[in-house]
Amino acid sequence: MEKILTGLQPTGVITLGNYIGAIKQMIKYQDMYESYIFIADMHSITIPQDPIELSKNIKSLLALYLACGIDPKKNKIFLQSENEYHANISWILECNTYYGELSRMTQFKDKSKKNANFTSGLLTYPVLMAADILAYDVDYVAVGVDQKQHVELARDIAERFNKKFGNTFKMPNPLMTKEGTKIMDLVDPTKKMSKSSENQKGVIRLLDDPEIIRKKIMGATTDSDMKICFDVENKPGISNLINIYASLTGKTIKEVEEIFKDKKYGELKSCVADVVIQELSVIQKRYYEIINSGELNKILDDGINFTRNISKNKFELMKNKMGLHR
Ligand code: TRP
Repeated sequence: MEKILTGLQPTGVITLGNYIGAIKQMIKYQDMYESYIFIADMHSITIPQDPIELSKNIKSLLALYLACGIDPKKNKIFLQSENEYHANISWILECNTYYGELSRMTQFKDKSKKNANFTSGLLTYPVLMAADILAYDVDYVAVGVDQKQHVELARDIAERFNKKFGNTFKMPNPLMTKEGTKIMDLVDPTKKMSKSSENQKGVIRLLDDPEIIRKKIMGATTDSDMKICFDVENKPGISNLINIYASLTGKTIKEVEEIFKDKKYGELKSCVADVVIQELSVIQKRYYEIINSGELNKILDDGINFTRNISKNKFELMKNKMGLHR
């Protein structure tokens, strides 16, 4: 079976956009591939984090993914910082990566501009990501478009290492979250629904109360036209609502257009609110069951026991190829 891997940073809250755009796809992948999901807590400390918040976020992120339907029997689930081989592999890869390559990464350029006092970890972040990927000889890496460049760098590093020291790594391929399932901000439907958005009215978080969810959806920006149809360019707000409805009910855009073609905007919004609240209330119930149980520890223990060995073998192989032995 082919392998897929993804890493999740335990920062911020998960939104309806993440759920529809990425998590639902990962739920599909778990039946198609041997699947690895880890919490990239070591990546999150490339910018300062509050220690108490960080450890809380790690558990809550994991509980939320499980509540959404990520199945611990079908995925190897682990915590990056519990596997010391990722950082070990990363160091060797750093010594095979050029400063110029790292300083040209778009995300580094953006983030380092925001705070002139950035750490060297922010620069080497993509090498740790390459280590996460190359340690497991995966076929696919599930990422959003913003991370595609980092997967390409991982390929470059792998190719260089293989050429120099002999075949060591499998070439990973980025697997992008599908177009068309991108959920937009409710207040400004021309931009993506993002957990870091300033105006929280436009963002639905998975753990929002039902009344808040309804309020946010009923207040969504639409247009002065009165027709319900899918037209992203001229009707971004309505199209976004149609998209949310279609994604959660499994209907096509055409079918949703048909259902609402003679209805008012208010009715569409109210129906969208119903389906969102229904789906999220199931997830929320499961979340609170999981977070208050011992299940998480057992899952992370199983995950680390399985993955540590694989990454250890890869690290030993790399050391041997480079002459790091007696
Ligand atoms: N950098 C990724 C992000 O911010 C998270 C991540 C870390 C990752 N390591 C990875 C994703 C390896 C895929 C594969 O979203």
